[in-house]
Amino acid sequence: MTKYSKLYRIIHWAIAVSFLLLLITIFLRLTWMNKNNVASIIQDYLSGTNQVLSQDQLITLAKKIRQPMWDWHVYIGYVLTGLFSLRFILPFFGQMKFQNSFGKNLSLKEKFQKYTYLIFYLFVIISLTTGLIIEFGRKELKSTMEEIHVLGIYYLIVFIGIYLAGVLIAEFTDQKGIISRIISGSKKGN
Ligand code: HEM
Repeated sequence: MTKYSKLYRIIHWAIAVSFLLLLITIFLRLTWMNKNNVASIIQDYLSGTNQVLSQDQLITLAKKIRQPMWDWHVYIGYVLTGLFSLRFILPFFGQMKFQNSFGKNLSLKEKFQKYTYLIFYLFVIISLTTGLIIEFGRKELKSTMEEIHVLGIYYLIVFIGIYLAGVLIAEFTDQKGIISRIISGSKKGN
């Protein structure tokens, strides 16, 4: 039965909370704070006051209103970059070791689990790298990076769905207590 060390649990939950916050920023950008929605609210208001703004001005204003919220996407992106860097460095110090996806004696279920993680990590690395290039890279790269980066929402939602279902199935079948172990470690304390 896997025991999760304190460090493992701290990093696990820091990553989980960061993804949740990141998802909230994406959700807000797609819904309440969507630039077209905000622009049409401003336009509705102005049309009752005999003032007119061009579509470009409305969108610029809407983006300015969205910006302080969106800044948090980037801040959380930096935090995730730090946490994932730690997550990838720690195995070299004997902590948070990676599971081997290529083992010979793995069952089909174990292979599915391990490959899902591998693919997820690959996608996360792509999201973090393209995000950082959007912020710090050369201007010519920006639009291509944005096109790749915005696709991140699809794998994120699919992974979170598969992951939560997997954890629940494990808890109720062959790995009882897995949820309490990732919260409070093993019974002996760690
Ligand atoms: C796993 C990590 C990440 C995921 C899953 C992710 C996901 C996304 C998604 C889905 C969007 C599109 C939102 C929309 O158009 O409605 C987006 C936009 C953006 N992200 Fe990230 N992001 C991540 C990390 C980062 C990082 C590390 C940075 C920068 C430090 C960053 C900077 C940006 C920027 C600047 C945009 C706006 C792009 C545009 O205007 O088209 N992201 N991100």
